[in-house]
Amino acid sequence: MEENKVSGIGREGQVRRSADVVSIARAQESQKEGPLICDPYAHLFVSPEGEEMLRSALGRWPFFAEYLVVRDKFFDEHLRVLCEKEDVKQMVSLGAGNDMRAARLDFLKGRKVFEVDLPDQITAKKAILKSELGKLPEEVTYVGTSVTEPGFMLVLQKAGFVPEERSVFIVEGLIYYLSSEGVDCFFDELSHLPSLRNLFLVDHISIDFSQKALDPEKRGKPPYPENVLSYLSNRGFSIRESALLGNLTGKYCGKNYQEKWWVVAAIR
Ligand SMILES: C[S@@+](CC[C@H](N)C(=O)[O-])C[C@H]1O[C@@H](n2cnc3c(N)ncnc32)[C@H](O)[C@@H]1O
Repeated sequence: MEENKVSGIGREGQVRRSADVVSIARAQESQKEGPLICDPYAHLFVSPEGEEMLRSALGRWPFFAEYLVVRDKFFDEHLRVLCEKEDVKQMVSLGAGNDMRAARLDFLKGRKVFEVDLPDQITAKKAILKSELGKLPEEVTYVGTSVTEPGFMLVLQKAGFVPEERSVFIVEGLIYYLSSEGVDCFFDELSHLPSLRNLFLVDHISIDFSQKALDPEKRGKPPYPENVLSYLSNRGFSIRESALLGNLTGKYCGKNYQEKWWVVAAIR
């Protein structure tokens, strides 16, 4: 797995740079005619380290960028339906990385948005946005903390999140970087929220694929919840829809892939 590493950045940096990899896939998709998703801000986060990591991933997994794009599409569609048809007041992006939904999705206007990520990532993102755009998106509250820290929901509440208001939680590209204890701690915190039919958009990869795709310095420590659907069901979440990204690429790009990477929309 050594060849998957980008020289000169340790585990923290690698995990943070994984956010740039996602941005590069978004930026490339946004330049296409009739893109599946459009993120006009994604190019701001293109870094040489991210480009090297994406190149390395694509060398092994030619579907990698397509997976990232159809994952976004699945999440955006669920988010849109919930915002347009149901009374959602808040969106929380956990492990937000370079997520720019607050600025790029009109239907989020007027709703509170919280972006949670490790303090270094939040600082780096704010610095890029300030220098490139001159200001930060107005609706966003940035929260620099670890989601595996017991009590992170209290940190979120101190930042203005109201647990009694209906919310959407985006958990995109996050849980396979956490230890299994971290994942448990994270979902325990979410399970303590009042049951308001909040929506949780989560993606997850199989242990097998994680071992092949992520180098040991980057991935969390197995055992992961191998079956994310029963993991969520056991914690009181009801599955609204789940799909394999390989099937979604079949639907949107005409190419089916086998690697097990799920996207899930769950309600609780
Ligand atoms: C692959 S990126 C995904 C970013 C974003 N969700 C997206 O899809 O564009 C993973 C993100 O998770 C963040 N992350 C990793 N461990 C975390 C933790 N314990 N608490 C909060 N964020 C974390 C990283 O800093 C990084 O920004």
